[in-house]
Amino acid sequence: MGINIGSDEISSLVEKDRVHKRVYTDPAIFELEMQRIWGTAWVFIGHESQVPKPGDYYATTLGKQSVIMTRHHDGEVKVLFNRCSHKGAQLVGDSCGHAPKFRCSYHGYVFDTDGTLLHIPREEGYKNTSYCKGKAGANVQNVPRMEIYRGFIFASLATQGQDLVSWLGISTSSFDNAIDRSPTGEIEITGGSLRYMHDANWKILLENVTDNMHPQVTHQSAFQPAKQLGMKYSDKDKPLALAMLEPFGSSYDFLDEIKMTVCGIGHSYTGGAVSIHSAYPKESQYVKKMQLQYGEDRTNKILSMNRQNTIIYPSIAFKSALQTIRIYRPVAVNKTIQETWTYKLKGAPDDMLENSVLYNHMIFSPASIAGHDDYEAYHRIQHGLSNNASDWVSQHRHMNSDSINEDGTRSAPGTSDIVFRHEFEAWKHYMTNTV
Ligand code: FES
Ligand SMILES: [Fe+2]
Repeated sequence: MGINIGSDEISSLVEKDRVHKRVYTDPAIFELEMQRIWGTAWVFIGHESQVPKPGDYYATTLGKQSVIMTRHHDGEVKVLFNRCSHKGAQLVGDSCGHAPKFRCSYHGYVFDTDGTLLHIPREEGYKNTSYCKGKAGANVQNVPRMEIYRGFIFASLATQGQDLVSWLGISTSSFDNAIDRSPTGEIEITGGSLRYMHDANWKILLENVTDNMHPQVTHQSAFQPAKQLGMKYSDKDKPLALAMLEPFGSSYDFLDEIKMTVCGIGHSYTGGAVSIHSAYPKESQYVKKMQLQYGEDRTNKILSMNRQNTIIYPSIAFKSALQTIRIYRPVAVNKTIQETWTYKLKGAPDDMLENSVLYNHMIFSPASIAGHDDYEAYHRIQHGLSNNASDWVSQHRHMNSDSINEDGTRSAPGTSDIVFRHEFEAWKHYMTNTV
């Protein structure tokens, strides 16, 4: 689609401390984002544990493209466009399953799990044509680039660009910590995802992840009863559900102490020494298993990295301290699918997974105690921004409080708008880079 918005016009939408509302409401900007951000960046596709055996597949989207992650019979993971090479039907209609071969449901052409065309009914009809076995154009196409970081699979629609590890930069440390928290150094995505559509722009959802100014207000109805109920218990006996809800009412001082750090192109993490998850009671059998594997010092080091959320811009946010992943899939300028997943720390007691599932259901699910509060906030922002009032959205908070760390990252108090500003630096970079 030809979109007539020049780089100067795009740049004018992002100032150092505010952004124009068009970035959230203009359908033409959204289409350009699909080309220039979601069409070029590394986008999270899934985890290797979702396709453990040859023939396993998992279908998802990469920007506006429908794709299939498969495990080929040589053991390699492939990411294919979900499009039959014959007349274009989607090869896979459901979200996951097992198929040693893909047989298109329209005319029955058969493809291998790496996309190679294997069988055409009445093949002689193609004699002396360019569509036949062995011709690249007759295969199901692989996406231009796919790379894996320690089991986390990313793909890009751009044929060229930075390799995945360079692009992830320092944020690889959050993946490392997620994996180190397993006594065997392995994680496994478990169960299905909680998947639901939000009536808001994808950036509004992503910004909420690091918006530490909202929980005390938006989630008041969730944490206040939890705090009242929690008074009946000592910290040691408190049910975990209450321990999970109470920190949503943390003081602004505590939230500032959490800190936020920005790195790479739009990536960030919140938390460090403390986070809203750091005061949960420790599962003693789990700590013992970790100590057995890693020794006391290294276990302390692993478990004291309290990253509340890591965002890999633009497609994923995850909690390494709580084994949950949130995935963002833009659908339209005002429609975004969010999926939340849980993963298991292999070798850890089952309680650890149960805690993760509890958090996921209690905080992120559409029927949760907190998730619908955020849903309402997204909806109100999207509608509020369509009014004719001010054109600008503020990102001024703690504008001059950044500090530079030894590794080149920048940190700020946990209630800063630093992450939003950083995400829009990346947005501007992608959106004005037309090469
Ligand atoms: S469209 Fe797939 S076999 Fe014809
Ligand atoms: Fe929230």
